[in-house]
Amino acid sequence: MDFLISIMSKNTSIVELFCIEKLEKMIKLRMEDRKLGDGQLEYIEKVRNIIRDFSLKTGISIKYFARTYGCQQNENDTEKLSGLLEAMGFEPTNDINFADLIIFNTCAVREHAERKILGNLGALMKNKRENPALKIVLCGCMFQQPHMAEKIKSYRQVDMILGTHVMGSFPEKIYKLYTEKGKIIDLENIDTLPLENIPTKRENSIKAWVTIMSGCNNFCSYCVVPYVRGREHSRYPDDVISEVKDLVDKGYKDITLLGQNVNSYCKDLDIGYDFSDLLSDLNKIDGKFRIRFMTSHPKDATRKLFDTIANCEKVCKHVHLPVQSGSDRILKLMNRRYTSEQYLALVEYAEKKIDGVTFTSDIIVGFPTETEEDFEKTLSLVEKVGFNGLYTFLYSPRENTPAAIMDGQVPSDIKSERFNRLLELQNQKSIESNLRYIGKIVEVLTEGYTDEEKTTMTGRTDENIIVKFPAEAGVLNEFVKVKIERAANWAIFGRVVK
Ligand code: 5AD
Ligand code: SF4
Repeated sequence: MDFLISIMSKNTSIVELFCIEKLEKMIKLRMEDRKLGDGQLEYIEKVRNIIRDFSLKTGISIKYFARTYGCQQNENDTEKLSGLLEAMGFEPTNDINFADLIIFNTCAVREHAERKILGNLGALMKNKRENPALKIVLCGCMFQQPHMAEKIKSYRQVDMILGTHVMGSFPEKIYKLYTEKGKIIDLENIDTLPLENIPTKRENSIKAWVTIMSGCNNFCSYCVVPYVRGREHSRYPDDVISEVKDLVDKGYKDITLLGQNVNSYCKDLDIGYDFSDLLSDLNKIDGKFRIRFMTSHPKDATRKLFDTIANCEKVCKHVHLPVQSGSDRILKLMNRRYTSEQYLALVEYAEKKIDGVTFTSDIIVGFPTETEEDFEKTLSLVEKVGFNGLYTFLYSPRENTPAAIMDGQVPSDIKSERFNRLLELQNQKSIESNLRYIGKIVEVLTEGYTDEEKTTMTGRTDENIIVKFPAEAGVLNEFVKVKIERAANWAIFGRVVK
């Protein structure tokens, strides 16, 4: 017995030691790494002074224009960069030609954005000639790729290039931009923690994005994200919960939680808490609002997740679950770590548990070695699931990813032909899915008008389906009930009922 007690007390002390160490690590992370870096508040003040002096002398303000090339997570980062710029005294403009500071926040996921950025930079030479004080800043993960960083260095019109870690020292970088000569390039350290308490300029008054984690550990063979955004880092649950509470208090009604793979939320923190727990806790916040989330990796989507969605009335009954391909051979080459059968089993489980659940997905067409037979398996999966909507992508090789150097790259005419067939099938599936709403009453969060005369109002259902209806009975930015009378593949139409 004594022996047992001695082991127990020994173990307890080990556990305690471990906890203290963990606690210290957590506190250190919170205090040091998860807020704006050292002295950044001082830099905000310094830039404010520069801008104030300039405005006093000239009588004009310094305007910034910010544009995002990328996903919602990039959009949310741009909202934070804009919030910081406004804290520094810059004023926003929606017209790039009136801007004194242009900031492009970029994404590396697809080649398309790169071509767009390079084109736009060419056109900005004219702005630079007309306004020699104009500063052009590029940031985000696109330049974390060595070939893009190299290419962009020769663009004389660009004044500053910042990588994915930009947020933590952004005020200091802006101060340098206005006080030092020469191009500033800072592309170190991709492994960034999501920061807390960054002023955010929300682009919408009822819909808000909340980034809950950054990075990705999955290394899908076609994808550049893990190389340019680093490993997964989760925000602490109480930080996320208090941000959402604050948004709800401010009147936001549609909140989307963002992460490359929200299903692995908190795995890096090792605190015995997961994404489903977060959904349950957010669901407890008082008020009428919706919780959405993206993106879910099918390999990490658990039964617990679907059970939680079923039980939480504020969590939308819609799951964005990228399948990428219907062929097991291609899924293996993609390093997705699930089979089409496992994917279909998830969908089946969710449909059984969650009344009226809908799915959307991402599909890549023309992955290296994809044959007609592989592609037909994708069509067959799309047919079986009946997605409510699809984001379809032509495979594009991304530098340094394993798929880019695989043999059997698919010719572009074959990719396009398959892409069009997939779109055609999806259009048909979307209309079939939307026809199911005819005669039903759906709850819509109204978000705007479709015409200048304001005769037709538009909004979205829980499942993210666009609904249009005569505006006279609707109230903007509110939940209304609409009885559906007609459906197209891109929207459903009806009338407000009391
Ligand atoms: N080519 C085409 N599509 C891609 N995606 C990611 N990388 C590539 C690529 N190299 C798509 C995937 C992912 C979505 C965000 O972008 O479908 O889910
Ligand atoms: Fe890219 Fe795969 Fe990570 Fe998604 S899960 S960001 S596709 S590596």
